Amino acid sequence: MGYALYAFDYSTDTGSREMFLHDLFVRAAYRGQGVGEALMNRLTEICKAAGVRSMYWLVWHANESAIRFYEKMGARSIDTVRLMRLTL
Ligand SMILES: CC(C)(COP(=O)(O)OP(=O)(O)OC[C@H]1O[C@@H](n2cnc3c(N)ncnc32)[C@H](O)[C@@H]1OP(=O)(O)O)[C@@H](O)C(=O)NCCC(=O)NCCS
Repeated sequence: MGYALYAFDYSTDTGSREMFLHDLFVRAAYRGQGVGEALMNRLTEICKAAGVRSMYWLVWHANESAIRFYEKMGARSIDTVRLMRLTL
C-alpha cells in the first residue's frame, strides 16, 4: 500500500538525534484512506521508542498536496534554510 523510508541522524544544532524521513509514499489507489497518517503515526512511535523528539524531511515546493497532508499531521515548514548540493 505504501512505505516510509527513514534513518536516524544527529543534529549539531540541537545536540540530539533526529529522524530523517527520506520518503513517504502511498500508492494512488490507497490514498485518502488513512494510510499516510498511519505511517506517520508509526514513525512517531518509532521515534518515541528511540528517545528521539523530532523528525524532518524535504518536500518540493510544488508538491502542495503533500504539504497540505504534512500540515494536517501537525508539521510546519522551516523557510530559513536552503538546500545545497555539490555534484562530483
Ligand atoms: C502525501 C501522501 C503520503 C498522503 O497519504 P494518504 O494516505 O493519502 O493520506 P491520509 O489518507 O492518511 O490523510 C490523512 C489526513 O490528511 C488529509 N490529507 C491527505 N492529503 C491531503 C491533501 N492533498 N490536501 C488536504 N488534506 C489532505 C486527509 O484528508 C486526512 O485528514 P482527515 O483525517 O481529517 O480526513 C500521499 O498522497 C502520497 O503518497 N502522495 C504521493 C507521494 C508524495 O508526494 N509523498 C511525499 C514526498 S515528500
